[in-house]
Amino acid sequence: MTFLAPEFIPRHIALVMDGNGRWAAERGLRRTEGHRRGEAVLMECVDACLEMGTVEWLSAYAFSTENWRRNADEVRFLMGFSRDVLARQRDELHAKNVRIVWAGRRPRLWRSVIREIDKATELTRDNTGLTLAMCINYGGRAELVDATRRLVAAAQEGSVRPGDITEDTLSQWLYLPDMPDVDLFLRPSGEQRTSNFLLWQSAYAEMVYQHKLFPDFTKQDMFDAVLEYAQRDRRFGGAVESN
Ligand code: IPE
Ligand code: IPE
Ligand code: MG
Repeated sequence: MTFLAPEFIPRHIALVMDGNGRWAAERGLRRTEGHRRGEAVLMECVDACLEMGTVEWLSAYAFSTENWRRNADEVRFLMGFSRDVLARQRDELHAKNVRIVWAGRRPRLWRSVIREIDKATELTRDNTGLTLAMCINYGGRAELVDATRRLVAAAQEGSVRPGDITEDTLSQWLYLPDMPDVDLFLRPSGEQRTSNFLLWQSAYAEMVYQHKLFPDFTKQDMFDAVLEYAQRDRRFGGAVESN
């Protein structure tokens, strides 16, 4: 990726790790086998970002606030799996200077998952390379509801004046106030929807949808997505004068 100038490389990539169940079904395996495969693929995606050099944030959608609707066995697997991936990968990520952070809602999330999140974030808190946001029990609407609750409470106690609230102040109440806006919103698996991922932060994201299922996803697919992103004309509501 050295042939792309840094201004064409996204600062923040949002990745919807989707298609694990279909990948497994195509092989006559249980859905959980697809999730298992995703672990190594996520690590490849981290490596791809590190190789590009100027990607600052990778946000990985691991479990949504809607995924509790799945059957109890799959939910149990996904909770245990999230906990184990954090435990298994944190040292290697730390060695790569990756800072791990978490975005999501605390209630319902397994305590053991929170424990591993705390360990991983504590271990890597001073790292200065890529920031990897693990989005576990995350929902864009839930995030806005949680921000609103805290903001209204602050207004009631008098520390915030409603008329002073701006887009910038609201974003300070989100799960990760230092998270930059999403530049590239990347979803494999053929689905073309956000599924409630980083709604606020993706207001002007470039959407890139790929057909491959996440367990088959490779570094090259991420590079291809960035190449597609680099060709987009981002206007942010402005207009390009035609002379
Ligand atoms: C994404 O793969 C992983 C999670 C949602 C946790 P899916 O499990 O949604 O796989 P498909 O979309 O059913 O193939
Ligand atoms: C989005 O995928 C959530 C994650 C990848 C964690 P889903 O598979 O849950 O989304 P839908 O149901 O296809 O919209
Ligand atoms: Mg899915």
